[in-house]
Amino acid sequence: MKETKILAIETSCDETAAAVVVNGRDVRSNIIATQIDLHTKYGGVVPEIASRMHVEKINYVINEALEKAEMTLDDIDAIGVTYGPGLVGALLVGVVAAKALAFTKNIPLVGVHHIEGHIAANYIQHPELEPPFLCLVVSGGHTHLVKVKDYNEYEIMGKTRDDAAGEAYDKVARAIGLAYPGGPKIDALSKEGNKEAIKFPKAMISDGYDFSFSGLKSAVLNYVNSAKMKDEPINVADIAASFQHTVVEVLVTKTMALAKAEGITKIALAGGVAANSGLCEGMSEACKKHGFTLYHPSKILCTDNAAMIGSAAYYEYLRGSRADMTLNAVPNLAI
Ligand code: KG4
Ligand code: ZN
Repeated sequence: MKETKILAIETSCDETAAAVVVNGRDVRSNIIATQIDLHTKYGGVVPEIASRMHVEKINYVINEALEKAEMTLDDIDAIGVTYGPGLVGALLVGVVAAKALAFTKNIPLVGVHHIEGHIAANYIQHPELEPPFLCLVVSGGHTHLVKVKDYNEYEIMGKTRDDAAGEAYDKVARAIGLAYPGGPKIDALSKEGNKEAIKFPKAMISDGYDFSFSGLKSAVLNYVNSAKMKDEPINVADIAASFQHTVVEVLVTKTMALAKAEGITKIALAGGVAANSGLCEGMSEACKKHGFTLYHPSKILCTDNAAMIGSAAYYEYLRGSRADMTLNAVPNLAI
């Protein structure tokens, strides 16, 4: 079988990343320069800082990815790059770098949707996985239930009507004094708390498979503020555990209901929040109970990385998708 070697670039938010992926599933290098420390002191990602750091790091990260894969640009069959959704200035750095390399070396260019990349992380982790399957994409910017009908065919079955799951995690974390990004910190703290201690509201939105996390987020903030006003102590571990329990229950219940309704037996997780230990446990218990198979990328493939973009780019490349020098960053790109 001919090897198709893809150099992939990802700069949609606060990770400058490049990877070399062969035939969509074989990761030869996966380099990530994280900017998290720079953004932590501001409590979240500052777009202008993100763009400037991408500019500083992009060439280094691309060279590192090629070197680690023991390849040069002459070995590369296509360049895949995230062109949306994400922060416009951040996306532009990756898109411009990819276009410059594609143009000067005459290498085919493939534009990749960031969420398609998150979903494709499962192809790397599970070489046997093939569509169709149902994927719960939970990240800082997205909470989507996606029916993956084929490699390039998706149907959004449900999505958040307000905050994304990761966004709720980060905002709740800030309210209880945890630094950005709060998701992993709440996850760790929840292990020391009692998940039944506080009953937070579960917005199940009865019709359909949409989500809503802003009510839950506000309930936690109100709980914290009201305790502060009354000068009462709060147990942050109990808050973390109760909040996480509520989020997980909503995500698991909706995913199971949709899988049953659609007759789908393969469930995949994707996105930064898919690294959450409570979600993995809850989802794996529920899948066992219903006889479904669960697919779950490793932590490094859950959060933003370029290997997942290389995988998605391969399937786009196979179906003939090519971008030209007019490729632009599209911050609100639809899947
Ligand atoms: O996919 P990702 O790296 O970037 C986006 O595309 O948004 O996701 C980042 C989000 C952040 O909100 C972060 O707090 C959350 O994923 N996250 C987690 C965990 N690890 C990362 N949330 C809950 N539990 C975790 N273990
Ligand atoms: Zn992401």
